[in-house]
Amino acid sequence: MVRKAVYPVAGLGTRFLPATKAVPKEMLPLVDKPLIQYTVEEALSAGIEVAVFVTGRGKRAIEDHFDRAWELEHSLESSNKLELLEEVKKISEMIEVVYVRQGMPLGLGHAVLRAKEAVGDEPFAVILSDDIVDADKPCIGQLIEVYERFNAPVIALKRVPDEEVSRYGIVKGVKVEEGIFRIEDMVEKPSVEEAPSNYAIVGRYVLTPDVFEKLEKTRPGKGGEIQLTDALREMAREGPFYGVVFEGEHFDCGSKLGFLKAVVHFALKRDEFRMEFLDYLRTLVI
Ligand code: G1P
Repeated sequence: MVRKAVYPVAGLGTRFLPATKAVPKEMLPLVDKPLIQYTVEEALSAGIEVAVFVTGRGKRAIEDHFDRAWELEHSLESSNKLELLEEVKKISEMIEVVYVRQGMPLGLGHAVLRAKEAVGDEPFAVILSDDIVDADKPCIGQLIEVYERFNAPVIALKRVPDEEVSRYGIVKGVKVEEGIFRIEDMVEKPSVEEAPSNYAIVGRYVLTPDVFEKLEKTRPGKGGEIQLTDALREMAREGPFYGVVFEGEHFDCGSKLGFLKAVVHFALKRDEFRMEFLDYLRTLVI
């Protein structure tokens, strides 16, 4: 059973400066809900019970977001805004949260390794809140199903065009059935020439605890950072390792364009202003 999800949230968010000077990038909202809440709700609906946030300096807003806010709750109660009160309380009761600090931003692999003690000796999920997936079945749940069938680590895959391969980890794999690949190798952010395929890793992983030993041995790679992809590559070379081309719509909210598309997508799902917003968007189409 996969009970815990690790959320690396210590990144500096430089791509979204100045918005992220004082606000963690994970707290940027799609309409009115921060990115991190979308991914925590995804984990919850896949049966995950504990969120391990690997955090760092300037990320206190994330802790406050998942905590009780008694002054706010009191104020909403006295002004009889009961729906909002429920909404706000729900977040603090959503999931059990554990915090560990990364200290230095030495890479995604380093962040995941910091969660070793909190995870212990059990399989676990890693969820990157930059990647938002809108799906009928939660994306991480789709991976957990494959993990349970094959009893081996699983990562989320998406086919990307040539011009995007250098933004992702890219895998080499053999198709074992519709939408499922056995992974043989992977490269972190390769050039088009180096890329072994067009299948990119999206930020959802189900890993086994042996990844921690691999991470302890992983030297700095691409960009001088300890890359999760490099540790997973070793695992895939040594034993079974799977990739799932998940169903659902993916938004790369680590890029401004991806973020804007996600805002429009989630805004159009809201009954309260869908029609008016659509009318507005139509006025922009030439
Ligand atoms: C990380 C991983 C990369 C993966 C990507 C998905 O990169 O290192 O392999 O494809 O997430 O979002 P980052 O976006 O953190 O640079």
